[in-house]
Amino acid sequence: MSIHFINPVADALRPENFGPVRVTPLMPNFAACIEGVDLSADLPDEVKAKLRDAWLRFGVIFFRGQRKLSPDAQIEVARIFGQPDLGSHMVEKAKPGVDLITIDEKRPPLTNLWHSDNTFNAKPSMGTMIQIQTCPAVGGNTGWSCTRKAYECLSEPMKRRSARLSTVTNARSERFPIAIPFAVDAVAEKV
Ligand SMILES: [Fe+2]
Repeated sequence: MSIHFINPVADALRPENFGPVRVTPLMPNFAACIEGVDLSADLPDEVKAKLRDAWLRFGVIFFRGQRKLSPDAQIEVARIFGQPDLGSHMVEKAKPGVDLITIDEKRPPLTNLWHSDNTFNAKPSMGTMIQIQTCPAVGGNTGWSCTRKAYECLSEPMKRRSARLSTVTNARSERFPIAIPFAVDAVAEKV
């Protein structure tokens, strides 16, 4: 079996066709840097549409050199991509819908393993928008993976099998995997 890591894309989705937004892919099928956009400004609908297209095309997009956004401004930017939800019930809020996560030696990360945000909510979040407020001199990094590509790379029997599966997660088992015997993630095969 061969796996194609670089997929052909429609002309409209090529990086050079997102103007006036400048898109620089970071990997062939995943992640891109966006330039030429001030997220604190009142953006034209045409630009907002291009940003949303870029997000759907590349999965994760990065904006460098932006002004620090207020919680209200963050909500406005999130509206470019969808209807903001209330986020996680487990973290401090800057305002409803804007989580404020502080990590230092006294407050280690609640989640320090691979995860997708808020899968324990009745309606899981489609995506997450993050702006770092205070960047440490060392560390503070995170990473992303492309589950869309991971799914494409599954064998056909495994795709068929996964189509019959559903998962149920809860916040406790996501945050504290050591407690899984007490808060089991149910993986149920539909009959
Ligand atoms: Fe997260």
